[in-house]
Amino acid sequence: MKTKINQLLQEVDAFVIDSKESLEQFRLHFLSKKGVIPVLFKDFKQVAPEDRKSMGMLLNELKNHAQEKLKTAQEALDTPDSKHSKGIDITLPADRFKGGRHPISIVRRDINSIFERLGYVISEGPEIEDDFHNFSALNFPPEHPARDMQDTFFLHKDPDVALRTHTSSVQVRVMEQGKLPVRIIAPGRVFRNEAISARAHCIFHQIEGLYVDKDVSFADLKQTLFYFAQEFFGPETKIRFRPSYFPFTETSAEMDVSCNICGGEGCNICKYSGWVEILGCGMVDPNVLEACGIDSNTYTGFAFGMGIERIALVKYQINDLRLFFENDLRFLEQFESL
Ligand code: DAH
Repeated sequence: MKTKINQLLQEVDAFVIDSKESLEQFRLHFLSKKGVIPVLFKDFKQVAPEDRKSMGMLLNELKNHAQEKLKTAQEALDTPDSKHSKGIDITLPADRFKGGRHPISIVRRDINSIFERLGYVISEGPEIEDDFHNFSALNFPPEHPARDMQDTFFLHKDPDVALRTHTSSVQVRVMEQGKLPVRIIAPGRVFRNEAISARAHCIFHQIEGLYVDKDVSFADLKQTLFYFAQEFFGPETKIRFRPSYFPFTETSAEMDVSCNICGGEGCNICKYSGWVEILGCGMVDPNVLEACGIDSNTYTGFAFGMGIERIALVKYQINDLRLFFENDLRFLEQFESL
């Protein structure tokens, strides 16, 4: 009987299972009721009593071995990526990617790349800011309304910790590192305690620009923004500056571009003025340079800040800012190929 068992062990090992059919043949031959192994169990009765223990163990080993092989082979045949079956290869690239960029991402990317071509590098700062970076260092007087609960989201009732209200805070973060000259743009999310309407939202996006070096002048600011406007809105675009006020710039201005919808003739996008306001800018106030540890007798700089939503509204002629936040596919799908 021992020789018989050894012979069957070899047969089990040698049996090639490479299909459902050979799997079934294996089962029938070795393990089914009339298979060779159960038949051998019947012969067990004739084994001499003193040999029964050792022979029983060998017999069980054979049975387990065959069952194990059957099980492993079955699992291999059931696994989709096994070489025996024609499963789906999930690692292959998809035929076509569905989906597109969000319009805010498209506009941000386009603005970034224009300034990157001019040698600006991208900087980032935290969305949760302290009073120093969001207000004090930017020359906001203590009684300025922006510091009011009405306009700013404060955290933990702590007047020193708030969600940044503008990306101008990144100007301070960069300047205080003291590496001059500085030529950065800072895209990011900003937060204001505003009622949501077609024209305002409590979360929106800005891009800040800052250039600090020796002999930076207002003429440099104008030429830079003129180049930006023509690159972004098209070569026919004109710009104009209007005097304005920001605590952190002196001189301060707002910049308009000629309406690219009506070409300056007047339409409902430009409210029949021929111009649309797109950004605030100015020469960095010497107080701001000093607060950031920069010698304002040696260095000058300009800064600008624009709202990405506002520019996207003008670019795509959209009249409701809320559309950018609702994730309505009917709206988003229009930007699919961009
Ligand atoms: N931080 C201003 C705002 O949120 C925008 C701005 C205006 C940024 C003038 C500037 C600037 O850098 O020079 O309304």
